[in-house]
Amino acid sequence: MTGKKSKSPPADEHALDAFAGFAADGRPTAVERYGAGHIHDTFRVRLREKGQPGYILQRINGRIFADIPGMMANIVRVTEHLRRRLAAIPGADPAREVLTVVPARDGAPFLRDGSGEHWRCFVFIGHRELGARPGTPAQAREAGRLYGRFLALLADLPGPPLRETIPRFHDLARRLDDYREALEHDRAARSSGAAAEAGFVAERGQALLATLRDARRRGLPLRVTHNDTKFNNVLIDSRGHGL
Ligand SMILES: Nc1ncnc2c1ncn2[C@@H]1O[C@H](COP(=O)(O)OP(=O)(O)O)[C@@H](O)[C@H]1O
Ligand SMILES: [Mg+2]
Repeated sequence: MTGKKSKSPPADEHALDAFAGFAADGRPTAVERYGAGHIHDTFRVRLREKGQPGYILQRINGRIFADIPGMMANIVRVTEHLRRRLAAIPGADPAREVLTVVPARDGAPFLRDGSGEHWRCFVFIGHRELGARPGTPAQAREAGRLYGRFLALLADLPGPPLRETIPRFHDLARRLDDYREALEHDRAARSSGAAAEAGFVAERGQALLATLRDARRRGLPLRVTHNDTKFNNVLIDSRGHGL
């Protein structure tokens, strides 16, 4: 990387080089920045071959994900399980309703380039490009249905727990503690503008935590969750059907 101020190097040529390291079919015509994700650098790879969906290529954010092999092992386990489960559901389309991880040429589910950056590649899933928020109640409903289905299909994921790639990311007690501290210190002097939201959390946070702890004690099984259920983390097709 250069020492310049820009967040990332002129990404498209790096992305094209990285793409060559994946066991992908087709000849790329263009690699362009894609989507509105906040974590990784996401690119769409279009192909010369007509009718081919192309690929999504991502430069993984290694500052947030220190354990990239662990993260990718989780993704492979989750997507393979979803694919098996979808294959048994009449009318489901496993090619479009679960991510397909494209391995690197050495067979690994990610690639490390010469400058130490990590990349991953998925088959591009055609969808309707929507904003950060649902445009209609039907879209909100569809997103909710997909997250529910994600949990239901993963309820019987076999094997050991998924790897905890960001320590305590899913720890509600810790989240509530951090939140309370941030609210108290109010370093950006903006908590007064969030009084309604703070009230919402004050009303529910500790009670929810107590409910979950009690349920665990009484035998609630530990299962896979999602915990980043933003609207733009689901894809919806041109007919409004959630993918
Ligand atoms: N396989 C895919 N097919 C089509 N679009 C995708 C695919 N994977 C990701 N995207 C798009 O890229 C965006 C960013 O991807 P995501 O993995 O959520 O990255 P981030 O963690 O940075 O948000 C998504 O919101 C979606 O629009
Ligand atoms: Mg995202």
